Amino acid sequence: MPAELDPNINEIITAPETYGDEALYHQAFSMLRDHDPVHWTDAAAYRPFWAVTRHADVARVELDAQNFLNAPRQFLVTKTDEDMMLAQTGSSTFARNLVAMDNPDHKAYRALTAEWFSPKTLRNLEAKVGELARETVDRLIALGGECDFAKDIAAWYPLRTIMLVLGVPQEDEPLMLRLSQKIFGSTDEDTGGGDGMASMMEAFAEFNTYFSAMTAARRADPRNDVATILSTATIDGQPIGDDERNAYYLIVAAAGHDTTSSAISGGLLGLIRNPDQMARLRADPGLMPKAVDEFIRWTSPVKHFFRTAVHDCEVGGKAIKAGDSLMMCYPSANRDADVFAAPFEFRIDRSPNRHVAFGYGPHVCLGQHLAKLEMKALFSELLARVEDIELAGEPAWVKANFVSGLKRLPIRYRAA
Ligand code: HEM
Repeated sequence: MPAELDPNINEIITAPETYGDEALYHQAFSMLRDHDPVHWTDAAAYRPFWAVTRHADVARVELDAQNFLNAPRQFLVTKTDEDMMLAQTGSSTFARNLVAMDNPDHKAYRALTAEWFSPKTLRNLEAKVGELARETVDRLIALGGECDFAKDIAAWYPLRTIMLVLGVPQEDEPLMLRLSQKIFGSTDEDTGGGDGMASMMEAFAEFNTYFSAMTAARRADPRNDVATILSTATIDGQPIGDDERNAYYLIVAAAGHDTTSSAISGGLLGLIRNPDQMARLRADPGLMPKAVDEFIRWTSPVKHFFRTAVHDCEVGGKAIKAGDSLMMCYPSANRDADVFAAPFEFRIDRSPNRHVAFGYGPHVCLGQHLAKLEMKALFSELLARVEDIELAGEPAWVKANFVSGLKRLPIRYRAA
């Protein structure tokens, strides 16, 4: 290990607590980018892997989906939890969803909903999302000038949008929120219960029961929603499997909102901490598309995904063996000074902004256009109708090493 590295670096970059402390996270990964950008990480609780911390290496690995597979390892799971999962399910993969698949299945399954999430189709949703953004700001104003923006606002708006797309009725949204927070925030005492895998497995089982019932309902009564597409989907003339269908629902339901909520809260905190940028965006709403990309780069709510090398190869000068796993460290790649001028500055007009917060290559986020549409609508509405937004307490981040962001953002504000 290079002398410049903290001797505890392997524990630091895997510990969920590090992800609850933005400054510590960035300090550790900056050290790796500078001194050991493709770093062999052998931490006590996890099977070892290569941490890939620079933008060029992340992009290269993700683009080469033939030689770096998504199966069998998708994200950090402790050795104990992997063993528990293997014993309970016979597999170390949670669910056969898009992020666990490789070609030819990945291509076929992604194609089932790709059209739905394309910019062209999403144009039909613009008016409805605009309405949800207006209602969300109405709710913020009705809260009377002080709230926890992360909990009271950002947690709900992307949830409503994705449930609308899926076709889940509004009365079931609290259940969906609870279950997906149990999955992503399972290591944080405030969001998941703090008991890791047990909490995740319970949430998976509840999701499956819910979506199996939904499939039966849509087959009897088809509608214009993603649930109907998945309920009736076929590949090569055969209906898709029940496990794959439930896994598909799950990834759309869960990946579709926690991520966006984190980008929204983190984007607002960036604006509050950089009042000159907030003033510029208010004065020039035409900057909104660029600003939204900067909010997403800045927050990078997905902290990693894994790839597994098919052959012996080289990445960033390191000899990788067939079967080794590589962790794509997105927030780190998004602070890489080789790609971003002044990477630690929050610039709402950053251009170009080639962040990899949505990943890269054939697995690039299916919902990226939806996420951006939602964020543009909400921030346009918010900045037009709410003034003097400031912190009313200390923000706090979820302690989770896979998908995480702010769990508390106390703010004070005034209706314009
Ligand atoms: C700011 C919000 C979001 C962020 C930061 C984000 C980030 C990501 C990342 C990093 C990946 C992995 C890409 C890769 O491996 O190269 C991904 C995949 C995915 N995301 Fe998102 N996401 C967001 C919002 C959404 C939304 C709104 C949906 C709703 C449908 C969604 C659905 C998915 C799906 C289905 C995949 C798997 C794609 C595949 O493997 O082919 N995401 N996302």
